[in-house]
Amino acid sequence: MNVLLVGAGGREHALAWKLAQSPLVDTLFVAPGNPGTAQVGRNLPVEALDIPHLVEVAQRERVGLVVVGPEAPLAAGLADACLKASIPVFGPTAAAAQIESSKAFAKRLMIEAGIPTAEARIFDDPDRAADFVRTTGRAWVVKADGLAAGKGVIVPESVGDALDAIQKLSATGSGGRLVLEERLRGPEVSLIALCDGERALPLPPAQDHKRLRDGDAGPNTGGMGAYAPAPHLTPVDITDLTAQIILPALRALKQARKPFCGALYAGLILTEHGPRVLEFNARFGDPETQAILPLLEGDLIAALAACAGNGALSDDMLHRTGDSAACVVLAAEGYPDTPRRGDVISGIESITDPNVLIFQAGTAWKNGQLTTAGGRVLGVTGVGVTLRAALERAYAAVDRISFPGMQYRRDIGAKALQ
Ligand code: AMP
Ligand code: GLY
Repeated sequence: MNVLLVGAGGREHALAWKLAQSPLVDTLFVAPGNPGTAQVGRNLPVEALDIPHLVEVAQRERVGLVVVGPEAPLAAGLADACLKASIPVFGPTAAAAQIESSKAFAKRLMIEAGIPTAEARIFDDPDRAADFVRTTGRAWVVKADGLAAGKGVIVPESVGDALDAIQKLSATGSGGRLVLEERLRGPEVSLIALCDGERALPLPPAQDHKRLRDGDAGPNTGGMGAYAPAPHLTPVDITDLTAQIILPALRALKQARKPFCGALYAGLILTEHGPRVLEFNARFGDPETQAILPLLEGDLIAALAACAGNGALSDDMLHRTGDSAACVVLAAEGYPDTPRRGDVISGIESITDPNVLIFQAGTAWKNGQLTTAGGRVLGVTGVGVTLRAALERAYAAVDRISFPGMQYRRDIGAKALQ
């Protein structure tokens, strides 16, 4: 089968790396891909949001499955366009992807389906949201309703900060709609499940590190590193969470005639009163995927195709190896606000440890040299029998890589080792 993977980040390099291992895959096309995906597949110069062109390429190349990485093409209807052209696709329709693209939609769905989530209020008028904050006298977490590339959430420390956040976020997102949410505390875990509309195959849980700097300081980012499996959840917990969170979400979406096929990602916070959902995403996480896929045995493409209606999704399609993996993100100078591009990356070729995987994200070839070309540049994943071993391998490789202004966290996974 020919496969078309859509996207250009570290997540897509990890997906391409795993998919290329399958004997079921004839040619793996990646649109637009990056220099990393070009090592394992064939990049095509088509942007992830150029939906008509993607469908045309999929038809021309007799693609048997389109796999969508990022959220923006899903929200823009890429899966709908594929289905209309009778091309199987792993990734939800725009209607089902609202579970990520509208926080208000997700919140209503969670309440209707009885999924444990933070208490919240939805406001269309920022003045009313501000009144609510003043009346309650609490520093509510402020979220813009629409997709905001990781910049749509502010966790304020005071009522004054919450009022500022309302001002700031009502100017972004879709139509100024805001969700105010109670602030919860506890470790965060990303639980991602492959879904066929009804059934779910949960992957090893991962923990992301959203803040830019060590000790969870600095601004929120797309994610500065991840490790898996997160020790907070046993396999029994994962079965319970799938039953309490993932399956009810699938049932509610199906009932609303928006069946969900794709990766459903529940961003959880484990509070002292139990797990609560902070957000759903309609896709694989980035950088969680770079830490999860190296732990899977089995044919990923068979599982994704089953989700898309080709065969039956079952739990025994993928198994955990028992290892741990840790991914350290190397980001460009100026990330997350104004990443600088064009710095020469050196040292990758000196890394020969077979337990280290270098996943490329914002990179480009320029004058024969690999250079930075985006905010998150590389994800360096180490694999080992323990998390400690995985981290040691990842950081030993990080020490060999450099580019001017390189930023990374030195404490990925540190809390789990304490
Ligand atoms: P989200 O995009 O909703 O996952 O929010 C991004 C980040 O903001 C989360 O990973 C949390 O670290 C933080 N966050 C979001 N909602 C809450 C909340 N209700 N309480 C505490 N932290 C939150
Ligand atoms: N790493 C967080 C996300 O993919 O949304």
